[in-house]
Amino acid sequence: MTEFTHKQPELTDTRGRSLRDLRISVTDRCNFRCRYCMPREVFGDDYAFLPHEALLTFEEITRLAKVFASLGVHKLRLTGGEPLLRRDLETLLQMLREIPEIRDIAMTTNGSLLTEQRAKSLRTAGLTRLSVSLDALDDNIFMAMNDVHFPASRVLTAITAAQTAGLTPVKINMVVKRGVNETQLLPMAEYFRHSGQVLRFIEYMDVGNSNGWRMDDVLSAAEILSTVQKQWPLKPLPAQTPGEVATRYSYVDGGGEIGIIASVTRPFCGGCTRARLTSEGHLYTCLFASQGLDLRAHLRRGDTEEQLYELIAQTWGLRTDGYSEIRLAHTPGFQNKIEMSHMGG
Ligand code: GTP
Ligand code: 5AD
Ligand code: SF4
Ligand code: SF4
Repeated sequence: MTEFTHKQPELTDTRGRSLRDLRISVTDRCNFRCRYCMPREVFGDDYAFLPHEALLTFEEITRLAKVFASLGVHKLRLTGGEPLLRRDLETLLQMLREIPEIRDIAMTTNGSLLTEQRAKSLRTAGLTRLSVSLDALDDNIFMAMNDVHFPASRVLTAITAAQTAGLTPVKINMVVKRGVNETQLLPMAEYFRHSGQVLRFIEYMDVGNSNGWRMDDVLSAAEILSTVQKQWPLKPLPAQTPGEVATRYSYVDGGGEIGIIASVTRPFCGGCTRARLTSEGHLYTCLFASQGLDLRAHLRRGDTEEQLYELIAQTWGLRTDGYSEIRLAHTPGFQNKIEMSHMGG
């Protein structure tokens, strides 16, 4: 492949938003069946996951990542499904880390397959940070949410492994669903205070079409904050980057930092710099999009770097997305959206 050097200083969409982050889903499969993401009734034994040949190869992912990097992307995040189900991720990391513009390669995982040794080999291969999903400390609640009988203690071990390996700061993603795990707010906050790990409370979102989302199930950021504040006073922290998904707070008593991801009640579309690549190579410019661009088809029919560059630049340039803002303004209409496990969150 010839080296591709075309550079455009500032690519922006119709709302002036730059392209900065690329979230790459490496598999549509997951070994959990979280009720809010891959409910068993929909993702059962007969569910048609993608065959291996449909997935982008590591070479294809890297080729695209290079084009994205030349368009302004500095930050990559590997997602799934569960990314650690994809074999040989270290090889992919070694390929991605060679892209000069890429400063940060993170991953979002459920932690179930992360041992101390694996965390170290991922770190050595080029992974810089890790977010681990954990919705409860109480096993009855956590198992009811992951629906595969996976205990919280094993996720906690994975989090420690990530920290030991230097994949820091480790962020803990807790999706909060009213009436399901709100009793876990304080136990989770207490566990992660003074740990150096950053707990983020996430408002339950209407991603995809299969989780039966209702506004009544959303515990709002305001409610979450007020519960935590009453126990441990908080003070707001300034945003580190514009359009950051999490609003940050620190415990007044020095217990560390937490974040709130309030996509439902306080949308952050105005600063959204994220593009998403699904495991079969479709590009989406919004988590809630129903239409993607089939980059795999372009790769496999032999498009040049220049052609891919133009295609992606044009797609981003025409971007108008702001689903969470629209959701807030209207009663949610249920478009035929893509499932979260497919899009990679
Ligand atoms: P860093 O900022 O790099 O630490 O990562 P992150 O917080 O974007 O990544 P992570 O995968 O941990 O995301 C946490 C939660 O935020 C997940 O539930 C995501 O689905 C949600 N999220 C991330 N990006 C977006 C977005 O663009 N829109 C919406 N609505 N939610 C998002
Ligand atoms: N609402 C909010 N967050 C969700 N995630 C998955 N489904 C949803 C949903 N419906 C979270 C996971 C993971 C991240 C990638 O997205 O818990 O941390
Ligand atoms: Fe749960 Fe994440 Fe798997 Fe979805 S992709 S089922 S949120 S572990
Ligand atoms: Fe970006 Fe779409 Fe999320 Fe808004 S809803 S922040 S536009 S991904």
